[in-house]
Amino acid sequence: MSGAATGPTGGGPHPNVWFPFTTIAGMATPLKVVGGRGSRIFLEDGRSLIDCISSWWVNLHGHAHPHIAEAIGRQALELEHVIFAGFTHEPAERLAAALSLALPGTLERVFYSDDGSTSVEVALKIAYQYWANVDERRPVFLAFDGAYHGDTFGAMSVGGESPFTGVFDELLFSVERLPFPDTWIGDDGAEGREAEVLERLRTRLADDSLPAVAGVIAEPLIQGAGGMRMCRDDFLRGLRRITEEAGTLLILDEVMTGFGRTGARFACERAGVEPDLICLSKGLTGGFLPLAVTVASRRVYEAFVSGDAMKTFWHGHSYTANPLGCAAALASLELLGEAEPVFSNMEAHHRAFLDRLDPKLTERPRVTGTVAAFDVRTEGAGGYFDRVGDAIKRRTLDKGLLIRPLGNTIYFMPPYSLTEEEREAMYAGTLELVAEVAGS
Ligand SMILES: Cc1ncc(COP(=O)(O)O)c(C=O)c1O
Repeated sequence: MSGAATGPTGGGPHPNVWFPFTTIAGMATPLKVVGGRGSRIFLEDGRSLIDCISSWWVNLHGHAHPHIAEAIGRQALELEHVIFAGFTHEPAERLAAALSLALPGTLERVFYSDDGSTSVEVALKIAYQYWANVDERRPVFLAFDGAYHGDTFGAMSVGGESPFTGVFDELLFSVERLPFPDTWIGDDGAEGREAEVLERLRTRLADDSLPAVAGVIAEPLIQGAGGMRMCRDDFLRGLRRITEEAGTLLILDEVMTGFGRTGARFACERAGVEPDLICLSKGLTGGFLPLAVTVASRRVYEAFVSGDAMKTFWHGHSYTANPLGCAAALASLELLGEAEPVFSNMEAHHRAFLDRLDPKLTERPRVTGTVAAFDVRTEGAGGYFDRVGDAIKRRTLDKGLLIRPLGNTIYFMPPYSLTEEEREAMYAGTLELVAEVAGS
């Protein structure tokens, strides 16, 4: 037999699983999760944790929600999957119609894929080919410092420079980057920084001596993995105004911000802007199944309406528009309607919590909708690899919380099922945690 072991040996990590985002040597044994319900997950050793970050930002309505589970079960007994070229099915059509109704303006053509990274790949490819289809050569994308758009090659290319992608640098296509004008509560320099970035963008887009720009890609209002860095609605409006005036495409990556996270159903809705392409995943199925969409505006789609095979978008995945995923997403959208008071009011609770933080121990408190974040003051360099992050990770479990800090940044992005009691436990546990680790 090869090394097909059946379980963990000597209490260490499983011998056959290669875990993501994990340094292998010296890794801590992953905690085995045996169940979840509402905002809690249950561990094999009997402990339960409040999931303060909706796992990897996916569980909108809490774990194992029966409404979604039942919708998947019903769909599985009808049609689990079918090829989506030359064939179609009701869940995919209903979901596309529902999304186009929920999204602003003419964002109405839904292209299915599997996860956040693929939704970004699709957006980049559509944007690039859009210009080819209208007989223009536009070889450059603009993106933001500190961005994270996923782990596939296109998504890595438009992501910010990072130690995670450094080893692949020579394989990534070249992208021009702009500073991200992040802000926080009590910061009065945001307007000036935004104006500088927008002016830089305007000048770049107007410069005909440089390669033409196919599109600008941004995580609207919140840069997630880059440290929960937040910008104002005004900046997003400025970005739309300038890209529109210059006639280039705006791609909004709402993989994380979609489905209520910013306090409105979508960040673009909160800011009152309509991008040319939008990427959605994570919360799309309420955290049940991997599914993603890239939704194109009418203008973009029309450039592909042709009998010419060279104008066809030759892209697709085996599990494109998986009916189970679509059924889960439709059920999740139904719950989202009911959850609107929860996600639109969460910002006020977060804001009151941020006021309770000791400014001697923390800095840059910030909040946008259901996402709150702050940085723990540290004697280290700060950022993703600051060791205060490890100290936080170790102690969160003792507080009964699932929190995964981004270096010295602690953030919340809880499911909308969070009860008042769980919310208080999350805040109180975090205040204790900060007092214990700050300055380490
Ligand atoms: C804004 C954004 N885009 C894309 C991705 C990639 O999504 P996935 O991990 O599902 O590929 C992420 C993941 O964190 C994200 O936050």
